Amino acid sequence: MKKIIIVYGTTGGNTEMVAEVVAEILSKKHKVDVKRAELSSAKDILKYDVCILASPTYGHGLLEAHMAKYVKGLKEVDLKEKPCAVIGLGDPKYEQQYHIESAPILEKKLTDAGGKLLLPALRISMTPVMHLKGFIPHWTKQLLAKLQ
Ligand SMILES: Cc1cc2nc3c(=O)[nH]c(=O)nc-3n(C[C@H](O)[C@H](O)[C@H](O)COP(=O)(O)O)c2cc1C
Repeated sequence: MKKIIIVYGTTGGNTEMVAEVVAEILSKKHKVDVKRAELSSAKDILKYDVCILASPTYGHGLLEAHMAKYVKGLKEVDLKEKPCAVIGLGDPKYEQQYHIESAPILEKKLTDAGGKLLLPALRISMTPVMHLKGFIPHWTKQLLAKLQ
């Protein structure tokens, strides 16, 4: 059993919904804490075996505001090859060139801090509701397999 932290930023609740579904599946085999970015700090990651960061995309290809603040703290942290994963959300109706740009931004922040990505990001386009029973559990099971 591993200790996993999922930190998310959200404005409209979509990212929270995805984080909760992923946490529910992971918690059948692991100990999972889910935290809002504004109530957590990057150095908390050091207390966990695995870290998952989740953010929607806002403002022409940027992270959600609380997550943007949170990741600044990663500059002070050495993740020492800690296993990590990323969840990004977006909607192509905003700006196609920045569609789900939060995913590569978070991946870079984690790898720059020394984290090791376990698998490609979970990328959710538009509402996550239609993916709650398909794509999201499918990705989470791939993640579970990497944690064996
Ligand atoms: C003002 C605004 C700007 C947005 N900009 C982008 C964007 O640049 N790229 C993208 O893929 N999605 C963009 N989105 C879509 C959101 O990322 C998407 O709706 C997401 O599911 C919201 O997540 P949340 O409910 O957790 O806040 C934008 C949404 C709003 C309201």
